[in-house]
Amino acid sequence: MNYPLRSIKSWVSRIGSLSSLQKNMLTQYMNIRFFATGDYELFKQTVLLRSAEKIFLDIGFGDGLTLITLAQQYPDALILGFEPHLSGVAHCLVKIKELGLDNILIFQGDVLDYLEDRTMHKASRVHIYFSDPWPKVRHYKRRLIQVPFLKLLAERLMPGSLIHFATDWQNYAQHITSCFVEQDDFVLTSFEQLPIQDQFKRPVTKYEQRGINLGHTITEFYAYLKS
Ligand SMILES: C[S@@+](CC[C@H](N)C(=O)[O-])C[C@H]1O[C@@H](n2cnc3c(N)ncnc32)[C@H](O)[C@@H]1O
Repeated sequence: MNYPLRSIKSWVSRIGSLSSLQKNMLTQYMNIRFFATGDYELFKQTVLLRSAEKIFLDIGFGDGLTLITLAQQYPDALILGFEPHLSGVAHCLVKIKELGLDNILIFQGDVLDYLEDRTMHKASRVHIYFSDPWPKVRHYKRRLIQVPFLKLLAERLMPGSLIHFATDWQNYAQHITSCFVEQDDFVLTSFEQLPIQDQFKRPVTKYEQRGINLGHTITEFYAYLKS
């Protein structure tokens, strides 16, 4: 079944408490090389000022471990991170500053703002790890990965782009599989078949570890957008 993307949110608002170091980071480091904002227009202008052949998206980066690892493994790519939760953004900024990374731009908000903006640069890679599984049947419609979402990605990615999803929820994995079956924009593949430069060795995140501790099996999806 197709769900309207905008009317149902895939995330919940949470007021996280920030340490004073995190608060300082948010106020001091709003500049173009090291940047996070909740203002979409500002984010957009900042992205447009940067030139990068490769733009990778980390959608729902949580506290940013994967985002940071991507930036380290692909220093020539511009990594755009999307996460509505301020505490995750602040946590991530502290790390980015410590490591001196300058190829990450963060939008503290919904990735749909970027994906629905047809005047923005297209991305060439999408990473979505441990997206909220919304395990109750009445909440399935809140899952981020749906057929209309895949369609939107197909429109907003360069031909041949790679998407990589991982989930520890079997039911969400089945749902994602059925979404791929229903659409014909992407071709599923496996890690072993990826060229070396696309074999991102992702770190184990807090959410993944929680799933492993619960005995959940991790399912990975690799798919290329048809050229
Ligand atoms: C379960 S967490 C996983 C975080 C991280 N990827 C990890 O593996 O630790 C999922 C995150 O996706 C974010 N999220 C959900 N819908 C989103 C959207 N439409 N745009 C941006 N982030 C979203 C949520 O706020 C949440 O922090």
